[in-house]
Amino acid sequence: MYFYNMPVVSAKSIYQQVFDTIESLYGKREAGSLAAAYLFDRWHIDRIKLSMNLELAIDDRMLKSDLRKLQQGMPLQHVVGFQEFFGHKFQTNHHALIPRPETEELVEWVIETISDLPSESILKVLDIGTGTGCIPISVDLAYDYLECTGIDISEEALKLAETNAKRLGSACSFQKLDILSNSLEKDTWDIIISNPPYIPESDRSQMHKNVLDFEPGLALFVSNEDPLVFYRTIAQKSSSALKKSGLLFFEIHESYGNEVRKLLSDEGYEDIELRQDINGKDRMLKAVRK
Ligand SMILES: C[S@@+](CC[C@H](N)C(=O)[O-])C[C@H]1O[C@@H](n2cnc3c(N)ncnc32)[C@H](O)[C@@H]1O
Repeated sequence: MYFYNMPVVSAKSIYQQVFDTIESLYGKREAGSLAAAYLFDRWHIDRIKLSMNLELAIDDRMLKSDLRKLQQGMPLQHVVGFQEFFGHKFQTNHHALIPRPETEELVEWVIETISDLPSESILKVLDIGTGTGCIPISVDLAYDYLECTGIDISEEALKLAETNAKRLGSACSFQKLDILSNSLEKDTWDIIISNPPYIPESDRSQMHKNVLDFEPGLALFVSNEDPLVFYRTIAQKSSSALKKSGLLFFEIHESYGNEVRKLLSDEGYEDIELRQDINGKDRMLKAVRK
């Protein structure tokens, strides 16, 4: 059946086509949830509408093109063009890491901490390695007395972050800076946050094709010889860039908790707190500059 030249298809048949296309890539369980997420993100069909097996007139060319991309292993977020993060839709592309749920937990911790800080004056917040801008934009949108900045080495990621800020109505600003070779302005920031690259090159072979082929290596990998290079550098540079009693937040690899805690303590930070994510894995740290 056709409606204004668009074929009418049942929701279940779209689900089945997506599932069949990606099952061999992801396995049954993940393919099922990705197919359901695709229906919702692309066609606004939730699980209830799916169970009612609604009929809908769809743009057949768009469905075919989506199926081709999914078959190549393109992440769902790049196919539909966005990832929901902390209640906001962030555009994604292959120049930046797709925002992850663990990072939402870090943002939640930052936002919760800010609510306990005095709000008489503007608080300056810096995010190092900002990617899509998901961290500083989400934090900025939570309060109206913050001045948030994101820095990244990748110009393409910065363009995406700027687009996201504009679309979401955030006044966050962005700058190109290589944190490994540039310095940060002294006594400037109330809060510094970073989710830097932290996966050792040696883990590359165990990673899924859809990450390796569609997310930038620059956002993910560090050398096997010095996997903590970003944490050490950021901790050092932040100890002078933060104002007195300023806060440093890190997202970490689950196996780095104690090492990064020690590194922060050696650098003179106080009140170091290590937190687990929802899966009970060491995932984030907060520390106070003396
Ligand atoms: C793990 S991603 C985090 C992206 C985003 N903050 C998030 O949580 O989704 C790390 C980011 O650090 C950036 N990056 C890599 N090397 C860098 C460097 N030397 N200086 C600044 N940023 C860098 C990458 O381009 C990437 O956007």
